[in-house]
Amino acid sequence: MKKYILILLSIILIFSCTKKISTKVQLNQKVDSVLNLMTIDEKIGQMVLYASDGDVTGSKIKSGLVEDIRNGNCGNILNAYSVAYTRKLQKIAVEESRLKIPLLFGYDVIHGHKTIFPISLGESASWDMEAIEKGARVAAIEAAASGLNWTFAPMVDVSVEPRWGRVSEGAGEDPFLGAKIAAARVRGFQGKDNNLADSLTILACVKHFAAYGAPQAGRDYNTVDMSHRVFLDTYLPPYKAAIEAGAMSVMTSFNELDGIPSTANKYLLTDLLRSEMGFKGLVVTDYTSINEMVNHGVAANEAQAGLMAIKAGVDMDMQGEVYFKYLKKQVEDGMLDEKLIDDAVRRVLRVKFLLGLFDDPYRYCNEAREKRLIYAPEHLEAALDVAKKSMVLLKNDNQVLPLKKGEKIAVIGELAASTRDLLGSWKAAGDWDFMKSTLEEIKAFNGDKNVFFAEGCKTSGDDRSGFSLALSTARKADKIVLVIGENWEWSGEAASRTSIQIPGVQTELLEKLKALNKPIVVVLMNGRPLDLSRENQLADAMLETWYAGTMGGKAITQVLYGEYNPSGKLTMTFPVNLGQVPIYYYAKNTGRPIYLENPKYKSRYIDAPNDPLFPFGYGLSYTTFEYSDIQLSANELKPDGELKANVTVKNTGKYDGEEVVQMYVRDLVGSVTRPVKELKGFEKITLKAGESKTVSFSITPDMLAFHRLDMSYGTEPGDYKLFIGGNSRDVKETTFTTPNP
Ligand code: GLC
Repeated sequence: MKKYILILLSIILIFSCTKKISTKVQLNQKVDSVLNLMTIDEKIGQMVLYASDGDVTGSKIKSGLVEDIRNGNCGNILNAYSVAYTRKLQKIAVEESRLKIPLLFGYDVIHGHKTIFPISLGESASWDMEAIEKGARVAAIEAAASGLNWTFAPMVDVSVEPRWGRVSEGAGEDPFLGAKIAAARVRGFQGKDNNLADSLTILACVKHFAAYGAPQAGRDYNTVDMSHRVFLDTYLPPYKAAIEAGAMSVMTSFNELDGIPSTANKYLLTDLLRSEMGFKGLVVTDYTSINEMVNHGVAANEAQAGLMAIKAGVDMDMQGEVYFKYLKKQVEDGMLDEKLIDDAVRRVLRVKFLLGLFDDPYRYCNEAREKRLIYAPEHLEAALDVAKKSMVLLKNDNQVLPLKKGEKIAVIGELAASTRDLLGSWKAAGDWDFMKSTLEEIKAFNGDKNVFFAEGCKTSGDDRSGFSLALSTARKADKIVLVIGENWEWSGEAASRTSIQIPGVQTELLEKLKALNKPIVVVLMNGRPLDLSRENQLADAMLETWYAGTMGGKAITQVLYGEYNPSGKLTMTFPVNLGQVPIYYYAKNTGRPIYLENPKYKSRYIDAPNDPLFPFGYGLSYTTFEYSDIQLSANELKPDGELKANVTVKNTGKYDGEEVVQMYVRDLVGSVTRPVKELKGFEKITLKAGESKTVSFSITPDMLAFHRLDMSYGTEPGDYKLFIGGNSRDVKETTFTTPNP
């Protein structure tokens, strides 16, 4: 009997492999059948991506787009959405051009399309992979319903630079968490089984490749320079995870890395991305980043820049018109082998076949579907859910929170009455005119007559004329809810700051309100870690809400009133002040660590502590959690073995709540210096008041691998520490070893 089962299994295996191979062969044959019909002009047309006038996300807009489509000189469009608009352009391509090749429609659907989710840095603070995947899924459904088939997301750039405005678009400082979130977002966009033929999935685009999140001085587009080991061990993992999750497009970054702009970096785009990581999709540049290689000083002119880009492995030129202007002549002059063009066009056509656009170019153009799916109730519910989960309770002295319904509340601050700011940067097609502000939601919950509002001051500038009204308003209330932070334009692209303090005179207003001796709850809206040292002294409670999206006002209200017990944990360190930056939890010990006896000669500041104000992984709850000591299944992890680390967590407070249990590891002695902690596992658990749960983490040797002294990737025998806790600072610890092989 066993023999027959084995034979049956091997037949099934051979059949499925041959089926997979035949599908791939068939796809390649279809691609070549189109490629072989194309003139060189039409081939180059598939390698250009032009912005429509649907939105502006870069420095220039090309005119004559419709003619370009009709002539086959433009095969891909960005910033055009809605069924009506995309159908109009698609019709020109598939009914009026010579070869009728369908268009790709791409857009920055970063954290939602119409239903807007919290900014990505906020969503990452939920540590809830299911909710994050769901957010990307909803974004994909609404984008696809609006005629789009490509999003320029997920942005997976690791960053420890709060001055850089684009930290708002990513998942914070940690490579391990960033990798989990990158994969979750790709699954959300492309579907769990990467079935791009499903008309409710869209092509994901991993960006910005690579290491865009480490600009010197936090200044956007600035130089990136790091050791190859740091690049491979810290910055590469989220890109890798996204590719492994099946992402079928990658966007090059504006920055240079090791002196070579990413858009001309053959090591990055061909040797690493394609050869080592096995990426099979298309590579698109960022907005005019080919042209910008002249500014970088690696190309004397745009023609040379274009040649460098295609030879490095760039398939598509976003908005630069460089490929359009120069590639054909470079082939004619023998400077460029047309085979490179054919390879690029194959990758573009392959994606269009995978999306099903050749079967039905209008598959994303269905008005009834658009009406039915945009702002669907379940989408708004998903946005509300993750918005609540993304909020981080930073302080709550004397249990000022949750607020009690019916209390007289003074809501102060421009951001309290704003809906636009709730959407943050990269709001895609999100509109804020039908949304409710935080103030409106608090009034709806607590009763108009119990809520008094005053703007107090703007989020920037030094106009203090609203202070007196704010103070008189606050005097009427039992508690004060002060909503302060950054205007949405103060983070995102091209929005770096040299200060990370609350802008304007908002903190001055807080100081004035403090003098009233009433409990003050500070609600923060911001797109980056801030220096909150002063606010932390003045506020009784502080709630980090980021920009919480379309349902943000309701989410803030439900958290403030305890309808939802906050569970978010910071994914980027909040420093005591900017002088500590860069500051991140996976630091090295140095030769003179702070704990040395010597009072002077050690790695420290004379004017500030080494520790941050709020560490990575930090977040409070309305309840409290107690951790038992760690129980290890063994003290030694064998080369092919596994350790189990168990800890029992108890909810010792009076509210049901969620806790993100985090596991970190430290390699005590390595062939190179090793971080004092590295996140290697986490689990978000729910505990009723008084309930206990045992959380079990598995430790395997692959989790301990890194790029060793000789740059080989692997583990080393030796002693390790293992930490488990509710953040990267307050942890239980134990030890284990890995034997010599
Ligand atoms: C922008 C951004 C990039 C975006 C692209 C298209 O400059 O850097 O993230 O996807 O242009 O809008």
